[in-house]
Amino acid sequence: MTDAAKFTPRVLSGIQPSGGLTLGNYLGAMKRFVEMQDESGLETLYCMVDLHAITVWQDPAALTRNTRELAAGYIAAGLDPAKSILFNQSQVPEHAQLAWIFNCVARMGWMGRMTQWKDKAGKNSENASLGLFAYPALMAADILIYHATHVPVGEDQKQHLELTRDIAMKFNHDYGVDFFPITEPVIEGAATRVMSLRDGSKKMSKSDPSDMSRINMTDDADAIAKKIRKARTDPDPLPATTDGLRDRAEARNLVNIYAALAETSPQAVLEEFGAGTQFGTFKPALAELAVEKLSPISAEMARLMDDPAEIDRMLADGADRAREIAHPILKRTYEIVGMVGA
Ligand code: TYM
Repeated sequence: MTDAAKFTPRVLSGIQPSGGLTLGNYLGAMKRFVEMQDESGLETLYCMVDLHAITVWQDPAALTRNTRELAAGYIAAGLDPAKSILFNQSQVPEHAQLAWIFNCVARMGWMGRMTQWKDKAGKNSENASLGLFAYPALMAADILIYHATHVPVGEDQKQHLELTRDIAMKFNHDYGVDFFPITEPVIEGAATRVMSLRDGSKKMSKSDPSDMSRINMTDDADAIAKKIRKARTDPDPLPATTDGLRDRAEARNLVNIYAALAETSPQAVLEEFGAGTQFGTFKPALAELAVEKLSPISAEMARLMDDPAEIDRMLADGADRAREIAHPILKRTYEIVGMVGA
């Protein structure tokens, strides 16, 4: 087992620039990225994973726009390019280079068991891209090319992070080294799995056909209020404790969203509103809080998008800084594998 203490505490995470950032991305990932950036003693790297995005078709002009928009979203949400390294994955070629090595470490069976692969490829797997199948090996490379020790993500990425640990362990074992850290997933907070506003059994997702199922980071105040007003709930009022939400997926989701936005716990939200509060009262309060938290972010995103050249400069600087960490780790990996000239 790797001695975690020998690795510098370092955080890496990423989001696909495939368009349409949702409240799920914000609460499950970005907001946590900002919190970790501000924790002392942690080096933080956050990327836009454009190589992952193209595992399914992306229109080139849209990919360019969405990558800049995601970068703007990172900064608007509170990431500071002076504190965190913000960059675009494809601009640090060491990710793809290490991913190839990991393609040769990971087993077909491991990849075939990934639920995201099964969901996305569906019955038509013969026609899915090879990149979609190999997706988790690239994700492991994103993390391990920096010897990252902590990875903040939403619940849906848990299986991929377990696979990252398996790849690190198999590499270390096969080559008889203690080189890659066994990364810790950081899946924390009230909103690690934000659910659809229309169906409490499905996660909130940019790919859901119904726009009413999600809150987009670019939605205006009216749209946010309307979506929350129309969000599905059951007829019962708020309970006294979170135990009373156990079999009420939609009600639980709204309470969790409130808690995450207010930076408190779901139990504290129930206590603040009081048992018996009707959703007719709770929903407008939630809408008001969501608008208060999201509007400044979307306004700042729009302002930053007015100057794409500045975003590109910031990303180029981030890529240079990322490469300084990644390059020596790739070089050492090549040496371990026995590649001449590394
Ligand atoms: P992606 O782009 O699908 O989502 C980005 C992040 O948002 C989280 N998320 C959610 N969290 C809570 N509730 C939701 N409804 C919700 N929807 C999305 C995701 O869990 C994720 O943290 N494979 C990754 C991207 C990736 C990555 C990495 C992440 C590539 N390389 C290395 C960490 C480290 C993905 O597709 O995320």
